[in-house]
Amino acid sequence: MLNLLFISKSFHISARRFAHANAIRPYVLGIETSCDDTGAAIVSSDGNVLGDYIYSQQNSHLKFGGIIPTVAMDFHRNCIENVVNQTFRRANVSLSEIDAIAVTNRPGLSLSLLVGVRYAKYLSKRYNKPIIPIHHMEAHALMARMTNKIPLPFLCVLLSGGHSLVTFVKNPSEFYLLGETLDDAPGEAFDKIARRLKLRNLPQYAYVSGGQAIELAATSSRDPSKYEFPLPLSMQRDCQFSFAGLKNTGARHILKEEKLLDLAPDAVLPDYEDFCASFLNATSKHILQRTRRAIVFCEKMFLKSNKLRSIVVSGGVARNDVLFNTISGMAKQYDIETFRPQKQHCTDNGIMIAWNGVELLLTNEQILHYDDIEVFSRAPFKINLIQNVKEESIPNKA
Ligand code: KG4
Ligand code: ZN
Repeated sequence: MLNLLFISKSFHISARRFAHANAIRPYVLGIETSCDDTGAAIVSSDGNVLGDYIYSQQNSHLKFGGIIPTVAMDFHRNCIENVVNQTFRRANVSLSEIDAIAVTNRPGLSLSLLVGVRYAKYLSKRYNKPIIPIHHMEAHALMARMTNKIPLPFLCVLLSGGHSLVTFVKNPSEFYLLGETLDDAPGEAFDKIARRLKLRNLPQYAYVSGGQAIELAATSSRDPSKYEFPLPLSMQRDCQFSFAGLKNTGARHILKEEKLLDLAPDAVLPDYEDFCASFLNATSKHILQRTRRAIVFCEKMFLKSNKLRSIVVSGGVARNDVLFNTISGMAKQYDIETFRPQKQHCTDNGIMIAWNGVELLLTNEQILHYDDIEVFSRAPFKINLIQNVKEESIPNKA
């Protein structure tokens, strides 16, 4: 059970300038350990990043072929103190100057989440600071507001290595789920296809994520429609996603070509660039179709006579320029502006957690201080409108 200690309904945060010329209090420390990145950051209420630090386990997990939760937990445990200390060093502030500690407590790998939450609780008790529990996907969704003026409400397409969903964001604590993936997340599909293609055997892709490798390879394609992929869920009039079919079709194409060309076990398809471009285009088209329907649904359901003004594309996959440009090109036809966080802030980091803490601290009428928080491996958005979207039966547009 959450143990909430209500402090004061009329608690006001003093927006006073402090040590940093452009940074306005409150200052929030953010801690992120939901998967394989240990991140921390200190962010001020006006979106200044005073300091941040991230330790990525990605390359360490490669030899296991994926993330093993107990191994990830050990990495987090071994480096959390250093990551937080480095963050304070870079920010040149002390813990006594922090106004709250935001920490990811849902969703994610339970063992990983526990490390961040336990450390946040330790700091909270020792320095008498409130803790703000943060939903990892909500933090991704709000991140772009730190550097762009994006008015509420907005539509958000969240595409990462573990999640795929589309949500209407009314305010920092009110998210309406319009669609989610029925199987894989897009980043997961990119990572698996990149691995199946053996892109890491080529030095230019050896140290980047699967999604980045596919995007980079696609830029050199001469025939970006060479490989055919079926459009997933094309007959379903909803905003659900599915990436397993694309991934399986991709794996079949690769196997067929490998056999046809009698490739050596560690060889990469000679036309891998065309393959990557075809795969990326098919993925973008699927996401575009679901996003277009979400726009129509939002304008009808929430905004009545008003128009939707902004779309945010967020999560690690939002780094992808092809995907982002596809969505923003379509949105322009509806007179909607499309945003994403700065590229380095699309993937997991402590800054998005600290910024979400700022948003909650500034907008909550009641500031709740938690002295005990739980972790949740699953945490679906509370308001689920997937069925309502289906019932609207909004037709596809070619
Ligand atoms: O948001 P994130 O750091 O982790 C989760 O919360 O899951 O996203 C990581 C994912 C990886 O699957 C990675 O392949 C993908 O983001 N990614 C990309 C690109 N950069 C990272 N996918 C497509 N294009 C990119 N440029
Ligand atoms: Zn993430």
